Amino acid sequence: MVKGKKYSKILSGVISSVFLLGGICVNNGCVSKCFTYKDASFPIEKRVNDLLDRMTLDEMIGQLNLLPYYESNDSSIRESIVLGRVGALLKADGAALNLRLQRLAVDSTRLGIPLMFHEDVIHGYRTIFPIPLAMSCTWNDELVEKASAVAAAEASSSGIQLTYAPMVDISNDPRWGRIMETMGEDPYLCSRMAAAQIRGFQGNAISDHDRLASCVKHFAGYASLSAGRDYLGDYFSERMLREVYLKPYEAAIHEGVSSFMCSYTMFEGVPATHSRHLNTEILRGDLGFDGLLMTDWRTLSNAIASGAAPDDTVSSLRGILSGIEMDMTSECYSKTLKYLVESGQVSETVVRRAAYHALKLKFEAGLFDDPYGRFDENRESAELLSPGNKSKAEEVAASSMVLLKNDHNVLPLNKERIVLVGPYVAERASLMGSWCAKGVEDDVRTLEESFRDVFPGKVVSLPCGFDGVTPEYVGQATRTASLCDVAVVCVGEPNWLIGEAVSTSRVELSPEQEELVRSVRKVCGKVVVVLFNGRPLVTKNILDNCDALLEAWYPGTMGAEAVASIISGERNPSGRLTQTFPRSVGQIPVRYNELRTFADVDFSDLEEHGPQFPFGYGLSYTDWEYSSLEVSSANVNLRDSLKVSVNVRNVGPEAGRETVQLYLSYPFLDVIPRKMELRRYSQVDLAPGESETVVFTLCDKDFEYLGPDGVMRRAEGGCRILVGHDSSSFDEVFVNLAK
Ligand code: GLC
Repeated sequence: MVKGKKYSKILSGVISSVFLLGGICVNNGCVSKCFTYKDASFPIEKRVNDLLDRMTLDEMIGQLNLLPYYESNDSSIRESIVLGRVGALLKADGAALNLRLQRLAVDSTRLGIPLMFHEDVIHGYRTIFPIPLAMSCTWNDELVEKASAVAAAEASSSGIQLTYAPMVDISNDPRWGRIMETMGEDPYLCSRMAAAQIRGFQGNAISDHDRLASCVKHFAGYASLSAGRDYLGDYFSERMLREVYLKPYEAAIHEGVSSFMCSYTMFEGVPATHSRHLNTEILRGDLGFDGLLMTDWRTLSNAIASGAAPDDTVSSLRGILSGIEMDMTSECYSKTLKYLVESGQVSETVVRRAAYHALKLKFEAGLFDDPYGRFDENRESAELLSPGNKSKAEEVAASSMVLLKNDHNVLPLNKERIVLVGPYVAERASLMGSWCAKGVEDDVRTLEESFRDVFPGKVVSLPCGFDGVTPEYVGQATRTASLCDVAVVCVGEPNWLIGEAVSTSRVELSPEQEELVRSVRKVCGKVVVVLFNGRPLVTKNILDNCDALLEAWYPGTMGAEAVASIISGERNPSGRLTQTFPRSVGQIPVRYNELRTFADVDFSDLEEHGPQFPFGYGLSYTDWEYSSLEVSSANVNLRDSLKVSVNVRNVGPEAGRETVQLYLSYPFLDVIPRKMELRRYSQVDLAPGESETVVFTLCDKDFEYLGPDGVMRRAEGGCRILVGHDSSSFDEVFVNLAK
């Protein structure tokens, strides 16, 4: 550096530091008011409070307003931004658009507070991964984390900084369309999957440009519904809340989740959006969460429509006093909070606290220090639907599929002449399921395209629409199938029969599709059914008419390739069910971890009892043998850890992945125990003939349960430790639980 320049740099540095102490800073010779909140050298808490000290009540309320962006409301959104009445937007997508909106917010508001952009990135953004229920069937935390990391990389490249995921509701009712968004019926598995998603979304820091802040939802107990009908909340107990519903939220907080979203439903008759018990006593008190809590869509207005408040003002009052901080799309807060403060019904401190969490999240996301750096169109075009992302999506899709039946090992197929029939032969959009963000139908290949790649010259296909399974079509399909070696029947529910606000009274295929399977069975030597759906279905009428059944769920953009890779044997299926499949809709609610009772109760009108397919079930192209189940001690004292080991051997012809599951079952407690509860799982990849000893370590906490007084305590007496392939096939060993 030239000498003269060196001295001028030192001098400007001295001037800068003198001015900085006085709140004035000099950048490149120009003097500008530089506030603590703009200075990244200060801790975030100090910066947020400095900013709040400078804000008016209107500006604080503006930060609590979360608005949906549509092209049609662009001008009103821009006006609200300039007036400082918007804290965050949802449904604004695209680096270019969001950069323009961000510049407007930073340049045109008094304090230059940036926006935060939210989106429903539930199972992918442009590259769509399998639905969450399917992803949970991988039982592979690393794969789920990888899927969320890809989703974060894509969504963040399109100007998104927060996703409304993971969804951790736990349901036992396949009639509920949103069961497709859940991660299975077990609190332990759901907890691990939620943590994996949060790691994938958030990475090491949500300020990293390829990551997203995570918003866990719907707090709490949304899945407790009357007959599985969405939004129609049903009562559930404090015990159910603490023993089941809260578990994944505890895991999410432990993993550092950035925010929460409330539920549409209620607890103890009080809308979740108004529940101080949920939103303050439990969330802040028992769970110790110190981040942002937002409503779900219009819940403050919904409370009025549900008859739980007379008007916006009362609903806002109850919401803000319950602990709800950001108002998604109802605008109740922006319309009434100022009046509530000025009339003395709400202290400004409460509003400030809410704005504190909203602003802290923006500082943590790096938006104050680099409000524009994330919005990079070049990164966006390179990231969306990249070959690497598609390859990961195919791996996760194939790993999520569950082989439910494979009589006489008809699968994998080899050189046979194949006919593809059914509404999924040429389907694209429905393969992506529901909540498929910016997934594009034309990105999705069809089954017939993928099968032709994998079985060249061997495939005849007869596509039809979901309403095209007519008697004429069935006749044509049957005639064609009679000339082929194998019929692959591609059936399922269209994606408009699943998802939010969609509940169904039937949980089986349409009669027309069942008739297609039945008819093909009569003329074709081998019948393979591939099922596309987002909920457990009653499969009896399919099972009776096929040799093999593959549960493919809604497998996403690369779903067809994944199906073909399994049917051809390129991949050995490894998925395991995380939701019990009932024999009959009359069995609902179904669950593997039922409470025990004193009699063997089941349905007198069912020839066979129990579920059609149990929790944890799934077949493979190879076979597994378990042996040498041992424990490090038959007597487990307090604060001891217990090692449980088991040997697993691949005794079949193919390399494969086995998911070893460990359950606990208590002979007695001082409350009625559940039949069994999942406590660990681990996967092994073994070649034919290979074996591995899997070791689990259990600690005191693993033997805790919710006592009759609602307090967690450690079980005493004894415990059966069940280790095996699924919740209905396992070896067991007994241990004494000493004081
Ligand atoms: C919804 C859903 C919620 C979603 C939100 C924003 O209605 O319940 O899961 O994140 O609106 O789209």
